[in-house]
Amino acid sequence: MNSKPVPEPKASWHVEHAALEKLWSAIEQVFAGPVDCDRLRRLLSELAHQLAKHFWQEEKGGYFAEVLSLAPELRARIERLQNEHVRMLEVVEELSRKVDAPVGSDTWQQLAGEYRELAVLFQRHEQLEEEMLQQAYQLDMGTKD
Ligand SMILES: [Fe+2]
Repeated sequence: MNSKPVPEPKASWHVEHAALEKLWSAIEQVFAGPVDCDRLRRLLSELAHQLAKHFWQEEKGGYFAEVLSLAPELRARIERLQNEHVRMLEVVEELSRKVDAPVGSDTWQQLAGEYRELAVLFQRHEQLEEEMLQQAYQLDMGTKD
């Protein structure tokens, strides 16, 4: 089979991913403990910053452009993923806003639930992006057979 290896992501991408993963679990740990709005607020602010940077790099740093250059038919999928970027940043902002109001233990649990939904969405999103890149390479190879 004619197979062109999917290139390895840049080293900076791994560093960024590791930082994000650390952050997701740090926030999960905060939710596992007693209400601590100050700490949560700081970590959510860091998450907003890291996610915005990560999404910007995907959108403007060449990742989506590479997929499009290999497989223009994946444009609609890229648009859906970009909409998810917007949505995920909105959810982090909503969570941060909620932490600014007084938070009791019920609200804390509710916020934890919303946060976990976001974390699941992010995982699934990342997986879809990875699959999309692989598919782009396969489609590209298909046009050159
Ligand atoms: Fe993304």
